[in-house]
Amino acid sequence: MYQLIKPILFRFDPENIHHFVTAALKTANKIWGVKSIQQGLFHLNDPALEKEVFGLKFKNPVGLGAGFDKNASMISELANFGFGFIEIGTVTPLPQPGNDKPRMFRLPKDQGLINRMGFNNQGVEVVVQRLKQLKRDGLIIGGNIGKNKVTPNEEAVNDYIKCFDALFDVVDYFVVNVSSPNTPGLRELQEKEPLKRILNTLQQRNSKNGISRPILLKIAPDLTNAQLDDIVEIVSETGIAGIIATNTTLSREGLRSENSLKSETGGLSGKPLTQRSTEVIRYISEKSGKAFPIIGVGGIQTAEDAIEKLEAGAALVQVYTGFIYEGPSIVKNINRGILKKIKSKGL
Ligand code: FNR
Repeated sequence: MYQLIKPILFRFDPENIHHFVTAALKTANKIWGVKSIQQGLFHLNDPALEKEVFGLKFKNPVGLGAGFDKNASMISELANFGFGFIEIGTVTPLPQPGNDKPRMFRLPKDQGLINRMGFNNQGVEVVVQRLKQLKRDGLIIGGNIGKNKVTPNEEAVNDYIKCFDALFDVVDYFVVNVSSPNTPGLRELQEKEPLKRILNTLQQRNSKNGISRPILLKIAPDLTNAQLDDIVEIVSETGIAGIIATNTTLSREGLRSENSLKSETGGLSGKPLTQRSTEVIRYISEKSGKAFPIIGVGGIQTAEDAIEKLEAGAALVQVYTGFIYEGPSIVKNINRGILKKIKSKGL
């Protein structure tokens, strides 16, 4: 069904279509019966898919990557598609508009996307109010946090603290995003000293009424092995829960798309990222001796792509661009493939 309407959707600007589809899903979700029809079509529940990772119980290992629902405004609609977890954000303390449009480009020949959204979001307070009203139904929600564009890197830690404190009661885990290529200078925070400062500060505050939340660090696929070694060391030194690998890439290697498209500024996601993100997962998993969980993300379109990431050392996976190219059945298809593999004792 999605493959039939996709050519029509793909004729329009990707960001406009995102808003159009969001509005359509919201309207549909209000119609009696639609929720159960969607759940019947897209959910796959099996105890063999359930997994406990960093102390949280996931009903299946396939999540939605950050950036799709930046403002936590469509979690109930997205939950109908069978995700085991949804990561909202990146959220910043203050609302901000992001970069000028157009800022999102499809590369159909490469089954990729380039985006330079720039953390457009409604600010943490709006997101917190929305999450307070949400009926969770056991769905795990991650809060991906970042800094405002106007905040200098030297003060970035304060932005992470503000988002962390505000979201503490309404999310299950946190992701510290220092790997978006679209906020000037943000990736410099992946360097040892600034990163340790942010993570240590959050860890010190990470306890309220005896509860602490798993904190994960989301990293870029463009780091060198030496930088990845530093990351592994920092995870063990700061005692954070794990890593999300990876964010979008600045590389344009091997693309088939026209020069005019591939020279757009921004981060590349989707199929061209599959291999590199798996390499990063494998490297970190081996280097750390599987000391902490990794969430694998980058170019997953099929069950085989997801299984490759799990075999490389990921405990859970996320999709974003694959959701756009393959449609909502992607979650069930991946879970079905994983289940088959588990039952044949292959995973
Ligand atoms: C993203 N991604 C992202 N990541 C993040 O941590 N915070 C964000 O705000 C966003 N925003 C965002 C917008 C758009 C349009 C895209 C395509 C991606 C990155 C995303 O979560 C994921 O890490 C990468 O896209 C790689 O996975 P896929 O898309 O290849 O499955």
